[in-house]
Amino acid sequence: MKFFLDTANIEEIRDAAEYGLIDGVTTNPSLVAKEGRDFKDILREITRLVNGPISAEVVSTDAAGILREAYDLAKIHENIIVKVPMIKEGMKALRQLSRDGIRTNVTLVFNPNQALIAAKLGATYVSPFVGRFDDVSEVGMSLIADLVRIFKNYGFATQILVASCRSPLHIREAALLGAHVATMPYKVLEQLLKHPLTDIGLERFLKDWEKAHQAVHA
Ligand code: E4P
Repeated sequence: MKFFLDTANIEEIRDAAEYGLIDGVTTNPSLVAKEGRDFKDILREITRLVNGPISAEVVSTDAAGILREAYDLAKIHENIIVKVPMIKEGMKALRQLSRDGIRTNVTLVFNPNQALIAAKLGATYVSPFVGRFDDVSEVGMSLIADLVRIFKNYGFATQILVASCRSPLHIREAALLGAHVATMPYKVLEQLLKHPLTDIGLERFLKDWEKAHQAVHA
């Protein structure tokens, strides 16, 4: 399963990329707004740090506007994936983008039928939002299980990009279900590495080593 970092923050991306922990990046208008910088400048910087898919979302809600933005964003770098909202106008634009060979990520997906439509129209990725689904007392991961099964039934090439991941548990469950990608905030990525027994174990190894070393050289 691929790991994408869900952020528009350059420091976080630089750090995760340096350690080889990420395969790509996803952004959304809220994440970009938090940075208070020009969207395209941010995207250009990300393309220099990460050699993998980088999702950039349109903000138009009509097909013509979505297409205009999509072509503009796709021009920035070959790794840019145009993120299109799961709305009727978005689907009209998606069909055209698929025909034009522009890679896409259909976002704000909350049920299997929405994902099925996006896959039929040639989306490269679909982004079901598990955390936001959990927030309204639904089970986000059951949506992922449905999508994995449906996409397998029909052999769709569209990849399931598990979005709105809020904890390491979401990542583990996404991997167990066989999702293609999970995108997560920097904090969750860091949590994936941690286990208290790892820290305790390492501390003990190093202490024992030091003790033996001192005894040999005493
Ligand atoms: C998906 O690509 C979105 O950027 C993101 O995962 C949304 O996460 P949130 O629900 O934690 O805002």
